[in-house]
Amino acid sequence: MKIALGADHAGYQYKDRIAQILRDRGYDVLDFGTHDSTPVDYPQYGYAVGEAVATGQVDRGILVCGSSLGIAMAANKVPGIRCAPVDEPYAAELARRHNDANVIAFSERLTGWEMIERMLDVYLATPFDGGRHAYRTQQLFDFGEAQRVRTLKDLERGEVTDARTPKDLVGVP
Ligand code: RB5
Repeated sequence: MKIALGADHAGYQYKDRIAQILRDRGYDVLDFGTHDSTPVDYPQYGYAVGEAVATGQVDRGILVCGSSLGIAMAANKVPGIRCAPVDEPYAAELARRHNDANVIAFSERLTGWEMIERMLDVYLATPFDGGRHAYRTQQLFDFGEAQRVRTLKDLERGEVTDARTPKDLVGVP
């Protein structure tokens, strides 16, 4: 598996440790930086890792910034990216099982290193459950004109309607 890494000045130390772990385990690592504490703009790293995943140059992405939030927001701007900022292993597991996260974002300022190691293992090992979750994750990429028309109707009504998952997908008779 090939993995792209990116971090700003508030996340590069964790990013470098993650890169070393991945290389030691035989992963192919594409490291977009940054490599020191000189202040840089986190959106650029979120975009780079996002595009690397979206264009198929790598299989997955891992991002680190101070909070995990800004760099995840940036990655999620790239079409085809589902980036989850996570701070504990069960969230990392659900990000894979339910959301098919292809990029994950960690916080260097708020999360201890041992937690990062656990989440890294979970992120790499957990499959996507598919089924009803695929039906939903697809909707994340369907925010075009038809979806906007649908949502504007919901706005007029003041309530979301017609959002029931098809029965055959949830296995309800
Ligand atoms: C940098 O100070 C910090 O704002 C950044 O790393 C990140 O936390 C943004 O969301």
